[in-house]
Amino acid sequence: MRATDNGTRAVLAGCGVAVPPLRVDNQMLARVMDTSDQWIQERSGIVSRYYVEPGVGSAELGVEAARGALTDAAVDSSEIDYVVCATMTPNHYFPGGGTLIQHGLGLRPVPALDIRQQCAGFAYGMQVVDALIRSGIATTVLLVGTDVHTSLMPFTKRTWDVLLGVEESPLEPEELEWNSRFRHLCVLFGDAAGAMVFRAEADSERGILGARLFGQGEEKEILFVPGGGSACRPWVDERMIRDGGTVPIMDGRKVFKLAVTRMPKVTTELLAENDLALDDVDVLIMHQANLRINEAAQKVLGLPDEKVHNNIQKYGNTTSATLPLCFYEAREAGKAPEGSLVAFAALGAGLHWGAVLLRL
Ligand code: UT7
Repeated sequence: MRATDNGTRAVLAGCGVAVPPLRVDNQMLARVMDTSDQWIQERSGIVSRYYVEPGVGSAELGVEAARGALTDAAVDSSEIDYVVCATMTPNHYFPGGGTLIQHGLGLRPVPALDIRQQCAGFAYGMQVVDALIRSGIATTVLLVGTDVHTSLMPFTKRTWDVLLGVEESPLEPEELEWNSRFRHLCVLFGDAAGAMVFRAEADSERGILGARLFGQGEEKEILFVPGGGSACRPWVDERMIRDGGTVPIMDGRKVFKLAVTRMPKVTTELLAENDLALDDVDVLIMHQANLRINEAAQKVLGLPDEKVHNNIQKYGNTTSATLPLCFYEAREAGKAPEGSLVAFAALGAGLHWGAVLLRL
């Protein structure tokens, strides 16, 4: 038992997901940038991803996932007494997604918190939920992870039309060259949301057992958006957009190396902190940034395939939505039955990384 432990745990009551209807495969992306299905699959494992229609933001996707989680939990929306929203792509500069989701679900005016730890956002969110519930501040918490990456893609209407097959004539070389500048990023990401409802349970063996999280700002430069923030005046201007300054900068190799070493390390440390071992884990849900990262991390940990679940092939990297979306599918596949121990691990921009243990 932890020193602050009063026996109350944040127990998972339900999980829901939202995946937009528009499936985009690698060949469709190859119409608008210098890439290929072979390159994308070999380097990342990704086969497809899903995009929202214009006008659908992360809050709308979040509401849909939250509805699914409430139904799965058989919890009435009036019971929710706290909302935590993890997103790096809020509908607006401000306010964040928390109150938009609260309103979209028709909840009473409960506290609504936004957190933005990018790919580690949902893991951070679980620690926040755990603290809210164990402290007695909240009893039934909705945690949403939602991201719409298409809003970050620097594509013209014509690029979108060619990508989607609405327009058949090929792009001009300049437009192809512009899009190809961002090919290492654009091929990786997809839109989605995932949500979980947690409930306070007294003297429970189930629930969030612990979290081990880290933040290290000195690594900011390897994955960040330079333009469109308060360090710029105005926060966005035409030149910034023309130069691609509102598109993320990513040093993929560095992120790759950090993820491969840090996700297994923090998972092992967290298990030890909780007097548990790798053998006790029923399923490991890792952030889905690259299948090669997860294969390497699995090898470091020595876990068999049936104890790891990956779904990046279908969805790409969905940032804050990834952990609940991957958990949801692992549970559907029968890998996470009641009583099982789920380990979550993630690493992303900030730099933020960490692991969480959840007993179902
Ligand atoms: O959630 C956290 C977010 N991000 C990550 O975790 C990303 C982690 N990193 C990665 O997933 C990989 O580093 C990438 C998939 C981004 C890139 O794979 P890589 O094996 O590290 O390739 P690279 O960046 O070293 O690039 C190799 C070549 C380069 O060409 P040259 O310089 O050898 O001529 C790239 O320009 O591949 C080229 N390239 C592409 N080619 C076709 C980069 N992106 C593409 C592309 N299609 N989409």
